[in-house]
Amino acid sequence: MCGITGYVGSRPAVETAIRNLKRLEYRGYDSAGVAYPAPAGVRIVKAAGKIAQLEASVQDQPMEAQVAIAHTRWATHGSPSQANAHPHPDCRGDLAVVHNGIIENYAELRARLRAAGHQFQSETDTEALAHLIEERLPEGEPTPQIFLEAVRQALREVRGSYAIAVISRFLGNAVVVARKDSPLVIGLGEAENFLASDIPAVMAYTRRVLILEDGDCALIEPDRVTISGLDGRLRTRNALHVDWDDQAAEKGGFPHFMLKEIYEEPRTVRDTLRGRLLADDRVTLPDVGFTAEQWARIRRVSIVACGTAYHAGLVGKRLLEQLLHRPVEAAVASEFRYSDPLVDPETLTLLISQSGETADTLAAMREAKRRGSPTLAIVNVVGSTLAREADAVLYTQAGPEIGVASTKAYLAQLTALTLLALYLAQNAGMPEEDRRRYVAALRALPEQIEACLSLSERIEAISAELAAMSCFFYLGRGYDYATAHEAALKLKEISYIHAEAYAAGEMKHGPLALIEPEVAVIGLCTQPATHEKMVSNLQEVKARQGTVLALLREDVPAPDTADYLIRIPATLDALSPILAMVPLQLLAYYVARQRGCPIDQPRNLAKSVTVE
Ligand code: G6P
Repeated sequence: MCGITGYVGSRPAVETAIRNLKRLEYRGYDSAGVAYPAPAGVRIVKAAGKIAQLEASVQDQPMEAQVAIAHTRWATHGSPSQANAHPHPDCRGDLAVVHNGIIENYAELRARLRAAGHQFQSETDTEALAHLIEERLPEGEPTPQIFLEAVRQALREVRGSYAIAVISRFLGNAVVVARKDSPLVIGLGEAENFLASDIPAVMAYTRRVLILEDGDCALIEPDRVTISGLDGRLRTRNALHVDWDDQAAEKGGFPHFMLKEIYEEPRTVRDTLRGRLLADDRVTLPDVGFTAEQWARIRRVSIVACGTAYHAGLVGKRLLEQLLHRPVEAAVASEFRYSDPLVDPETLTLLISQSGETADTLAAMREAKRRGSPTLAIVNVVGSTLAREADAVLYTQAGPEIGVASTKAYLAQLTALTLLALYLAQNAGMPEEDRRRYVAALRALPEQIEACLSLSERIEAISAELAAMSCFFYLGRGYDYATAHEAALKLKEISYIHAEAYAAGEMKHGPLALIEPEVAVIGLCTQPATHEKMVSNLQEVKARQGTVLALLREDVPAPDTADYLIRIPATLDALSPILAMVPLQLLAYYVARQRGCPIDQPRNLAKSVTVE
């Protein structure tokens, strides 16, 4: 995710803001920039690539500024480039804005501002905000208070999420910040103040922080911070004392990136849905870029991916089949590319990838294109090779994922697949009532994921007992069988325990011979239609002294054969893989932690596999 820093006080502001920005480097970014007041307005310096490049570019600039804002960008709208890097100015160069988040109505704002004569220099959603503030400024030389009011007015017109910082020649030695659904903190110093999108970026200088809440705006001056709402009313926030060490700080206080990323899942799902569900419960995919004719030509879907993304594809296959009533294929990319894939101009080849750089997935996409198949990539990294080469892209909005074992990106992929399936079904005449049920269930997900996260302590306790098991089976039927594949992969990659996914009904055809007390069997029972069958399968395991953990919806009776129970909120069958995976990721995490494994960087594995 993008990073923001800023400084007001008597230190060299540009240097201080950039130094703090480096503490956010671990989050991943593709360009960086800084802005500070200059005699006639603001000066902006930006560079594609690493912060070191930005530092080289600012070296020859005079640096007496006592105010600066800086930014690392992880592309969401527009490719990673110097032009798209933040900060973004207004037309006159009187102000500069840095922003994290997504402005949903940016296309509309941009068109309106362009028509009013504003000149845009980038493809970003953020630049619309710079011009919108300019538009709201009265003629003449506004005072800082009037400038702040213009920012508030602009924000009232914005839909979406933001953490922003703005400097202007009208503000003097001050910065205006605001947040909604994107984090922003203020580090409090003595006659100096810091701002950042994350606590680690201010910790070198202060341990006293104010955490802004949604709807807060603040005017940050060296000796005071004034917080107000978008309505201009003053608000009070209490300062916290942060006593994390540096390593914990980088991970937002979590011991591992993997756990931090699991806790980011409610937000990931919310961000992936953002702007894609209309008020009347229709699904819109405006950024995908297929024409109506291209959408209409699709008769079949072939899903291709690797690893966790392939497992998302297994869920996607069922979901698309269920909603479209058409056969859908799902293949691992390394098999697809060397087979004689049955794709043609009427088959949509759907590539799924977090990184957008996986060699086999790229090769599969090129093979599908050679065969005349339209290609759509569900990708997390904007500007990645897959995003650039596929005919169309549906971005997941998971932000950078650092743990090698994929967690939040998987939930984002499932969310994007659900949106796509609903969009295609809606075009094919899905009954309105059914669509509304799905959309309501999608909207409920972030809170339900929070409920799953609240199981963490219980799962940790169960993990302490399961960590010594020699082998895990994950059993399920239907959607649960697809989930079982990803759950088994999570456990094996980080805990090094052998784990296998099995169709529950197949246990009797062989694997039951392996059951003994040191074998853990995780029964996934989230599908009401097959609940009783699953319970019988777990009884068969228990009768052979296997250790059974059952994962159930909260609204079904508990089987009396389970040694451990985990209950998740009820949702539609097709969405249960999203909720079920959260406790299963936590289970893998805590088992691996019990065993002292290097969770974020498991042996022999890489985050992005760019060779065959
Ligand atoms: C590697 C990673 C996995 C990931 C897979 C596919 O194996 O360790 O977490 O699922 O590659 O990567 P992609 O970036 O294409 O989703």
